[in-house]
Amino acid sequence: MRNYLMIFLIPFLLGNYCFAQENEVLTFSHGPYLQNVSETGATICFNTNRLVVPGVMIKSGNNDFELKVSSTDGLVNVGNHIHKVRIENLKPGQLYEYKLVAKEIEEYYPYIVVFGDTLISKSYSFKTFSTTQKQVNFTVFCDIHDQATKLAKYLDSNAIEKQDCYFLNGDILGHIEEEAQVYSSFLDTCIRKFASEKPFYYARGNHETRGKFARQLKNYLDLPDNKYYYGLTIANTRFVILDGGEDKPDTTTVYAGLADFDNYRLKELEWLKKEVVSEEFVNAQFKIVIVHMPIKQDKKNWYGMAFLAEHFGPVLKESKIDLMISGHTHKNAWIKSNDSGFGYPVMISSNNNYIEAQVNKSEISIQLKDLDGKIVDEYVVGKR
Ligand SMILES: [Fe+2]
Repeated sequence: MRNYLMIFLIPFLLGNYCFAQENEVLTFSHGPYLQNVSETGATICFNTNRLVVPGVMIKSGNNDFELKVSSTDGLVNVGNHIHKVRIENLKPGQLYEYKLVAKEIEEYYPYIVVFGDTLISKSYSFKTFSTTQKQVNFTVFCDIHDQATKLAKYLDSNAIEKQDCYFLNGDILGHIEEEAQVYSSFLDTCIRKFASEKPFYYARGNHETRGKFARQLKNYLDLPDNKYYYGLTIANTRFVILDGGEDKPDTTTVYAGLADFDNYRLKELEWLKKEVVSEEFVNAQFKIVIVHMPIKQDKKNWYGMAFLAEHFGPVLKESKIDLMISGHTHKNAWIKSNDSGFGYPVMISSNNNYIEAQVNKSEISIQLKDLDGKIVDEYVVGKR
């Protein structure tokens, strides 16, 4: 009797499910959020619930809006999930206004495509970076461990309008199990508070390497060269974002033979050696490294940190970076240049603190803030 009932029920249930999908109204499900902003480019990311041609209408000043779409291998991108519209040839230091566009594809046959509604969002704005800007303002969050309410509380006291960008410095997620967690743990909060108008740059922590969805995190970001290690220039400052990988040896039982971070870090090291002799790095007045696990000499270093200290420390020492900003230890610390082992100071913020910093032509100023936005410590790094 039960089997008999199921034979009738399954088509009915499936039919209802398909009907619900087909009748969902086209919406922007998440976003927009800015990624990979530079002096001349920006990527605008968003998500729709139906198959669309994603686009962005953009303009500066009194000019007319221009529609931009992205393409891959000669085909204009279409999709029903995450969209990343890359816009190039922007002017440095320019304020841009933009709107999202989603042109629905109702039927997609080889020689006929039937379009449905076109959805257009409200206006947002962002500014490209400029070599001539006198100051760089940025905020660093780390070790949020899925606590979006903590991130929101930090942002309540953060001077959002003054920031050029944000760095999410690792362990923002605990371990990554599914897409919904990426949105609920940080991304939706970032979008709600700042990310539609200010970009964030991700520095992967050791916890973001864990869980069955860890390999998909990159799908939600737009990283230079699609790597978790990269350089970024804002005005007189070169930021070098590093991925420290896991904190324990690749052979650790709980990694189940699925970790290959020694090889990964050595490849990253080769990139770093090129980065520190690049024109952008050499010509920058200030060089700041953003890395989740601090790179410092310490006999108590676990495997991952010891690996970074052994291989990356000497390269960073030689290249005379001005400051390293880290997390991971869940304890605030200011490690002086003479104590890090590599000639640079290290600022570590705990899992209940965040950093606001400014770079002008002569110094880097850092404020360490608590959950209520109270400044608990301040530091200044002068020009070397
Ligand atoms: Fe960590």
